[in-house]
Amino acid sequence: MSIIVENLKQAIIGESNAKYKYEQFANKADEENLPEIAHLFRAISSAETIHIKNHTKALSVITTSEVNVNDFLTINKEKLNNQVKDTKNNLLNAIEGEIYETKKMYKKFIKNSEKEGNNVSELTFTLARKAEKIHAYLFNKYLKLLTAEKPIQKVKLYVCQICGNVELEGAPQKCPICEHSQKFFNEF
Ligand SMILES: [Fe+2]
Ligand SMILES: [Fe+2]
Repeated sequence: MSIIVENLKQAIIGESNAKYKYEQFANKADEENLPEIAHLFRAISSAETIHIKNHTKALSVITTSEVNVNDFLTINKEKLNNQVKDTKNNLLNAIEGEIYETKKMYKKFIKNSEKEGNNVSELTFTLARKAEKIHAYLFNKYLKLLTAEKPIQKVKLYVCQICGNVELEGAPQKCPICEHSQKFFNEF
């Protein structure tokens, strides 16, 4: 079980760092007069908050105690601030992070959960992993538009409050990741 506790803490740290980093990337996109990219960074940053919440709840259930993330959470703001480049490179940085989480970090954490027979951590890691895949896809879509110098249309973004899935333009009847209904999507 200790490995699951460690994995949950690592995931909370990773998500918290990503959340902070995307906020800085959003500010940079605003500076570069790319408001739609700033909007996407902020929506996905808010989605990471949902992962933090879900992982924290799982940690609390598994350890049967109240969790104060500040006991172990570290956000190296200086290091993250140094990662802020122009928006094209910031999108590349974000894509790399999301792919790392999908293909390495969560993949490993899910395997550990299966080995330990821990359904609680397996669920929160699986939902987050699927959402990160969508995040990578969306960042990539915007990167392609930016690279092609195509205009990025103003769209509404919808964030599933259960799993952190992000949808463009409209909220689906049912979330394709967590299967909760449309009413759990917030317009962002
Ligand atoms: Fe993400
Ligand atoms: Fe969802």
